[in-house]
Amino acid sequence: MNEIVLSKNQFLELKHLVYQTSGINLHEGKKELLKSKLAKRMRLTKKNFDQYLAYLASNDQEVVEFIDTVTTNHSYFFRENKSIAYMVQHFKGSVPNKNQVFKIWCAACSTGDEPYSIAIQLLEAGLDFSILATDISHSVLATAARGIYRIDKTRNVPKTLLHRYFQQGTGKYQGHVKIKKQVQTHISFQRFNLITDTPPDQGVDAVVCRNVMIYFDMPTSEKVVNKLYGAVVPRGFFAIGNAESLMNLTHKFSSIPGVPSLYVK
Ligand SMILES: C[S@@+](CC[C@H](N)C(=O)[O-])C[C@H]1O[C@@H](n2cnc3c(N)ncnc32)[C@H](O)[C@@H]1O
Repeated sequence: MNEIVLSKNQFLELKHLVYQTSGINLHEGKKELLKSKLAKRMRLTKKNFDQYLAYLASNDQEVVEFIDTVTTNHSYFFRENKSIAYMVQHFKGSVPNKNQVFKIWCAACSTGDEPYSIAIQLLEAGLDFSILATDISHSVLATAARGIYRIDKTRNVPKTLLHRYFQQGTGKYQGHVKIKKQVQTHISFQRFNLITDTPPDQGVDAVVCRNVMIYFDMPTSEKVVNKLYGAVVPRGFFAIGNAESLMNLTHKFSSIPGVPSLYVK
């Protein structure tokens, strides 16, 4: 499948393009993956390798499509839920007035599993809220908005919640579930590039940015963390992935004892 011969320079140029555009740091070990992604885009654009590289260099829209194929979108419902459960309980215990609408920003939401999981728990807590769910990739945002998933992605969802908030698919949707409207109405999906875009909202109660900085180098992660810091209200939360750390970055968040991966402003 991969007859593409990618010279060292071509690899470095593509690596630079991916880094500049998305912050994703492709190391040498990703060369084969990059070749298979190039082959996919060449097929779809009906171009040979040289034509495709020239096309990519001159077409911003193709850069978006290309980045779309190199991002890792793995996600599932109720993933690494300890920090989310803590946050929801904190919100529940701290409602100063009944009319408070909590604002959450899921800043690399992939196919929507994460914002829907948070929404379900906020609904269960009886709270009013709105979630802005963003990602660099158009295709994951389209999947998120559709809200249909293979059932195995909901393995971690407690059974009662699965029945309450998902419809079981039948016929050609056998083995799939669809998130219910009552969950979807709380979420707005938008494209947002953590590297190049300015945060859309300066007053969110929590930013959830999990399992994306793992693909960034330290200077990029530091810039992103400090950019997101500005979007959080004082005493608001910042959640990262379990495999990520703010340890060697300069930032102003405080950690929360006993709750790994969750920080407070
Ligand atoms: C592995 S998924 C994580 C999804 C979810 N947060 C979770 O923890 O399950 C990483 C997501 O980050 C997105 N991403 C990568 N670079 C990005 C960037 N520069 N700006 C915004 N999103 C980005 C990818 O498109 C992908 O959907």
